[in-house]
Amino acid sequence: MAQEVRGVIAPGKNEPVRLETIVVPDPGPGEAVVQIQACGVCHTDLHYKQGGINDDFPFLLGHEAAGIVESVGDGVTDVAPGDFVILNWRAVCGQCRACLRGRPQYCFDTHNAKQKMTLTDGTELTPALGIGAFADKTLVASGQCTKVDPSVSPAVAGLLGCGVMAGIGAAINTGNVGRGDTVAVIGCGGVGDAAVVGARLAGAAKIIAVDVDDRKLETARTMGATHTVNSRTIDPVEAIRELTGGFGADVVIEAVGRPETYQQAFYARDLAGTVVLVGVPTPEMTLELPLLDVFGRGGSLKSSWYGDCLPSRDFPMLIDLHQQGRIDLSGFVTETIGIDGVERAFERMHEGDVLRSVVTL
Ligand SMILES: NC(=O)c1ccc[n+]([C@@H]2O[C@H](COP(=O)([O-])OP(=O)(O)OC[C@H]3O[C@@H](n4cnc5c(N)ncnc54)[C@H](O)[C@@H]3O)[C@@H](O)[C@H]2O)c1
Ligand SMILES: [Zn+2]
Ligand SMILES: [Zn+2]
Repeated sequence: MAQEVRGVIAPGKNEPVRLETIVVPDPGPGEAVVQIQACGVCHTDLHYKQGGINDDFPFLLGHEAAGIVESVGDGVTDVAPGDFVILNWRAVCGQCRACLRGRPQYCFDTHNAKQKMTLTDGTELTPALGIGAFADKTLVASGQCTKVDPSVSPAVAGLLGCGVMAGIGAAINTGNVGRGDTVAVIGCGGVGDAAVVGARLAGAAKIIAVDVDDRKLETARTMGATHTVNSRTIDPVEAIRELTGGFGADVVIEAVGRPETYQQAFYARDLAGTVVLVGVPTPEMTLELPLLDVFGRGGSLKSSWYGDCLPSRDFPMLIDLHQQGRIDLSGFVTETIGIDGVERAFERMHEGDVLRSVVTL
């Protein structure tokens, strides 16, 4: 029996979000219905609302979520009703050329639930990143559910489902930060601060946080930044070089998604160093760099989707480290809000005074 629950809908481009009754079908083969306990408000939800991702309105927003599996469809063996799970937006296929070569973190054919959730009049909804978790319940592919230690707070766990994993993974997976490395992070919102946490976990000797907002730099310090640079008043490339003996950082992580900050990252890295782009650019952005500099400076220029994470490997590990006090993810939850608070949370995101507002249910 399909169920009717509450969900937060983006009805059309730049229109305010609305709380609506949505219809969640019973899980079909390979699917699961998850009762949502917490879902963070990510910048990408705002991009959806603004029409910046695509035009498949109405969207069912929300994708940084944790909850309890309520029911599963035929053939589902990896999770069972009652399991505490974090939802992921890259359920790997096991069959594509990346998966077959033993690199499922790059899976080129990730999947979501096949059935559609709808409004009560039958209008089909597009769930954000194939999740749609600003809702009491949502329908996903079972591979989107990753079991973790149920003693963790759902508000903290959910954040690993997107921004926090993207940032930590940009440092530990894509950037391959190692003991003694110098690291700079440009843009210290939720994603950049998570990169700071990742760099610290990996043993970076120096972690330089760069932002245009002093409040963000203060928070970055509490996350593990050893130095901060306000690039509104100081040239960040010069400052990073000065802090690294005149050379630049071994790994520079760009967590804004703009050509000018990418350029800063490029020139603030040491010879043979690594630049990691985790910020998401918009379609009209372009970048011009002297090809001789790309060649002459050596090293690698990488981009990082979802922190190159493998949810089944990385989510349980990071939750364990958090539970043991070896990383602290609680600081990412600035506030918990009700399901009717999403529009206001977007405003606060814009005002720059939250890392994450988290809807709890
Ligand atoms: N690659 C992925 O898988 C992935 C996943 C989630 C989010 N993201 C992207 O990561 C980026 C950051 O996300 P977020 O949630 O942290 O956003 P956010 O808005 O919370 O943080 C952005 C930060 O950048 C700072 N900033 C803005 N302009 C700057 C500049 N010129 N120089 C230095 N700092 C500047 C802001 O003050 C803010 O602190 C976004 O582009 C988001 O879409 C990527
Ligand atoms: Zn695959
Ligand atoms: Zn997100």
